[in-house]
Formats: sequence, C-alpha cells, structure tokens
Amino acid sequence: MEGLKEDWIKSLSNPLMLFSYIKHTLFGEKLSERKFPLISFEGIDFCGKSTQAKLLAKYLKEKGIPYRQFREPGGVYISEKIRNILLDPGNKGLLDTTELLLFAAARAQIVGEEIEPSLETKLVLLDRFHDSSVAYQGFGRGMGYKFVKELQKYATKGIYPDRTYWFNVSIEEVAKRKQVLTTNANTKLDRIEVSKDNFYQKVIDGYKHIARTEPWRFKTINAKRSIDEIHNDVINDANKVLQKYNLL
Ligand SMILES: Nc1ncnc2c1ncn2[C@@H]1O[C@H](COP(=O)(O)OP(=O)(O)O)[C@@H](O)[C@H]1O
Ligand SMILES: [Mg+2]
Repeated sequence: MEGLKEDWIKSLSNPLMLFSYIKHTLFGEKLSERKFPLISFEGIDFCGKSTQAKLLAKYLKEKGIPYRQFREPGGVYISEKIRNILLDPGNKGLLDTTELLLFAAARAQIVGEEIEPSLETKLVLLDRFHDSSVAYQGFGRGMGYKFVKELQKYATKGIYPDRTYWFNVSIEEVAKRKQVLTTNANTKLDRIEVSKDNFYQKVIDGYKHIARTEPWRFKTINAKRSIDEIHNDVINDANKVLQKYNLL
C-alpha cells in the first residue's frame, strides 16, 4: 500500500518506543471498554479530510454500520458558537492561550454531549480531534507538545481514537487547492486558513511527531493521490478496525 505506512512494528526495536507501546496497551486510552470504535481524520486545511470523511460515512452506510459524524471545532450547538469565535477572521487579537483553551472547551463540550454517549451504540467519525491541537497549538504556535497533549486528555476525558488517518500533503499542493477554491468557488478563508507557510510547516512537523510516537493508531496517508486511491487506503485499514469490533 503506497499511501499507508504499515512498518511501525519495526519501530518497536527502539526501547523508548517499546516502552511507550506497552504503556499504551496496559494503561492507555479508554479503548478496551468500548463497544464501538472512534476514527478521526487529521491534516492541514484543504488536505482532503471532509472529502474522505464523507466517503467513509457513505461506506459505513452501505455496510449498515451505525455511525455519527462530527466536525471539530463544533459539532454541537455550544461548540459551534466557540467555532465562530475561533475562525472569525476579524478576531485578529485572539491570543494563543485563548485559542488553545477555546479549542479545548469546544472539544470538552462535544465529547461530553455527543462523542462519549454515541460510542455506546455507534461508531464515531471525527473530522479533526485532539491531534489538531497538538499539531496546531503545540507545534504551530509553539505551545509545547507535553502540555497541549495533557490538556487534551482533560478535555476528552481520555477518550482516544482507535485510528487516526493523517492526510499528508505538501504546502504547495494545498496552495493549489486553496487557489482553485478561493477563485472558482469564491470560498472565504477563515482566521486559521490565512496562516503563513511557515506556520503550516510547523503543523506538519507536529503531525510527523505524532506519527512517529503513536504509529499503532496514527496512520500516515499520502494525500497527493486521487480521491479514490486515498479512499481505498482508508477502507482497507478501517476494515481491520471494523472487524476488531465485530462490525464486519
Ligand atoms: N485527493 C485530492 N486531490 C485533489 N483535490 C482534492 C483531493 N481531496 C480533496 N480535494 C479538493 O481539495 C479541496 C479541499 O478538500 P476538503 O476535503 O474540503 O479538505 P479539508 O476538509 O481537509 O479542508 C476541495 O476542493 C476538494 O474537492
Ligand atoms: Mg474540511
């Protein structure tokens, strides 16, 4: 599979990685008690998350697998209100600290209100989740990996995705897509989408860091390819998760 790196098991020869994996397996996230899986999609703006989330949702529907799909920040009434503050291009004075806490607040609300209860009876599909804060605020804004990650644990009550698909694409490629959308479709960019390339480069570095440290659930997908090729990679891997939960 060209787009999905599956060689993470080799990384366990590194003692630190092995320790991290054992820690994750024994004391990790609230995975084992769950009846349904949580899948999140990550990547920089315009990498193709929403396109792929829609396709995976269609696949789940065809298979008759119950699911809920949410976007972040937002997804529920209060979190959508916080989203408006976060993405309003007029809010130029928003401090990094305020931004970090607002993202965490929006996340806490949707986790408590929808994600946690939904996982009792359905698969949950998320267009962005806590990794976005680690990459954007932790790395992009330079607020620190450990601190931002710890805050996410609090906001999400330790609820962790079984799988995260990171659509890895270059800044040049998204610039092309952005150009098409802003000129042809007249799409207006939000407060974060207008960020400079060096910010996005740091965000990509953040995602790379997560891919290195949590390869068992965070899968890198080469998102420069066609929508169908990417979708096939997602399905091939998601099928394994569905089988694990006896949904296929
Ligand atoms: N694999 C792809 N190749 C080329 N264009 C794509 C691909 N995936 C998505 N797009 C286009 O790029 C734009 C951004 O996609 P979208 O799914 O909205 O990204 P995101 O939700 O990550 O911001 C859309 O115009 C979409 O049609
Ligand atoms: Mg989107």
